[in-house]
Amino acid sequence: MLPTEGAGRRGFGHPGSGLALVALLLVGTTGPAVPVHAAPETPLQHIVPAPVAATPRPGVAFTLSADTTIHTQPGSAPAQQVGEYLAGVLRPSTGYRLPVVPSGSSASGRRISLLLAGADARVGEEGYQLDVTRQGVLIRARTAAGLFAGVQTFRQILPAKVEAKTRQPGPWTVPGGQVLDYPRYAHRGAMLDVARHFFSVDEVKGYIDQIALYKVNRLHLHLTDDQGWRLEIKSWPNLTAHGGSTEVGGGTGGYYTQEQYKDLVAYAAARHITVIPEIDMPGHTNAALSSYPELNCDGVAPPLYTGIEVGFSSLCIDKDITYEFVDDVLREVAALTPGEYIHIGGDEAHATTDPDFDLFMDKVLPLVAKHGKTATGWHEFVKSGPPPSAVPQFWGTKTVAPDMVEAAARGSEIVLSPATKAYLDMKYDANTKLGLSWAGYTDVQDAYDWNPGAYVEGLPADAVRGVEAPLWSETITNSADLEFMAFPRLPAIAELGWSPWSTHDWDRFKVRLAAQAERWRVMDVNYYPSPQVPWA
Ligand code: ACM
Repeated sequence: MLPTEGAGRRGFGHPGSGLALVALLLVGTTGPAVPVHAAPETPLQHIVPAPVAATPRPGVAFTLSADTTIHTQPGSAPAQQVGEYLAGVLRPSTGYRLPVVPSGSSASGRRISLLLAGADARVGEEGYQLDVTRQGVLIRARTAAGLFAGVQTFRQILPAKVEAKTRQPGPWTVPGGQVLDYPRYAHRGAMLDVARHFFSVDEVKGYIDQIALYKVNRLHLHLTDDQGWRLEIKSWPNLTAHGGSTEVGGGTGGYYTQEQYKDLVAYAAARHITVIPEIDMPGHTNAALSSYPELNCDGVAPPLYTGIEVGFSSLCIDKDITYEFVDDVLREVAALTPGEYIHIGGDEAHATTDPDFDLFMDKVLPLVAKHGKTATGWHEFVKSGPPPSAVPQFWGTKTVAPDMVEAAARGSEIVLSPATKAYLDMKYDANTKLGLSWAGYTDVQDAYDWNPGAYVEGLPADAVRGVEAPLWSETITNSADLEFMAFPRLPAIAELGWSPWSTHDWDRFKVRLAAQAERWRVMDVNYYPSPQVPWA
């Protein structure tokens, strides 16, 4: 079948069309600059995402020293793991030993304590309290995930050079104060498209480390598309042997063996990030169709595809083997997935009729359940009437979406990834070399300045499960490119997912964001120095 003209998302306008450009022009002609806030006085005011409450203790500070020890909740392996993670961040740059010991042990020296007792009930499942006094640092939470979030805040109030991989001169001083913090939303996601261009295990781990710093807790991996199948499926080996052998532009592609994928999932889990694997279907399946002729209605395998059109492929809805294939794939993916969700795509199925789409989803949704998982999918999949447990991911370009309001009325919670706000592959402006612009240009303020709780017209605030920032990789080939598109917009979306709306303030956010740049330079993060941000 031929690529659909105009019907796909690439058919939405052209570079520079639409509201984003209007907004851009207005910004360019508003005359006097907005007042610039005074520089924050303490790193407690630099934290991204903004915490629920941070109260400085003026005149008080704590300084790490060679005899500092990390004390963790006795008897808790997960708390100890968070302690080891923190030590792993601090040791290379400080050169200190920083032994991780059970709290209550008699180790001398001043302490960083990570305790699962005594936290305010408001911290919930993922929040924490951080206390910095002259004597030490105390992080309390009800879960290891909360301790991990507290550790990210602690990192951010240390000097930026603490992120260096080589020994740096101190002093390693943090300001005294108290933080009480917990997330607005359960789902704070980043998505990486490893199908259009393949990203190695190490590249994905690098991104995991970067998103963890901003308290992102879901990594959605877009594992399959027209251009490549990136996860080994033992019962259908040609999916990767053939379907993983190229990528957009004709490069050699690649794939994860199941062992490599398990390693990625474990690496993310150690950072309190749950991987959500996506097997996109029934469209976006050319790589699979090219690997197995029997999956095609005419029995003929199409060639591999290295372009960037969408909407031209479909699994064969009428063949039994299609569902044997999907069952096998879902079984193997479920076995590799400790998380609750499998993403089944469902977007841009322009080569599948609506009745066929319904037939397909009616057979596939029960297979997801059969393998013990809950389905999530791009928002189009609600047209097949999935169960209320299913989570639609809204990627529309408009704020009017009656299908999302109806899904919410049936009990579904929605993840918001509006393409005009949260798509990290949209160009910042007309000069951005990387990325696409079918949803308009998205500079940092566009990415930040929207309220997920009041974005889709008529969608109740409590039907929003969270936000996710997708990074599609048609034009993105390596970590430097990935970072250029994700930073600084990923932290903006992460803040929308974590921080209470009461903290939302662009003029303050841009100052906090500017303060992050020193850290990114130390970490070698290739960020985009947007002219909207007052970089130091
Ligand atoms: C999508 O951008 N096709 C979900």
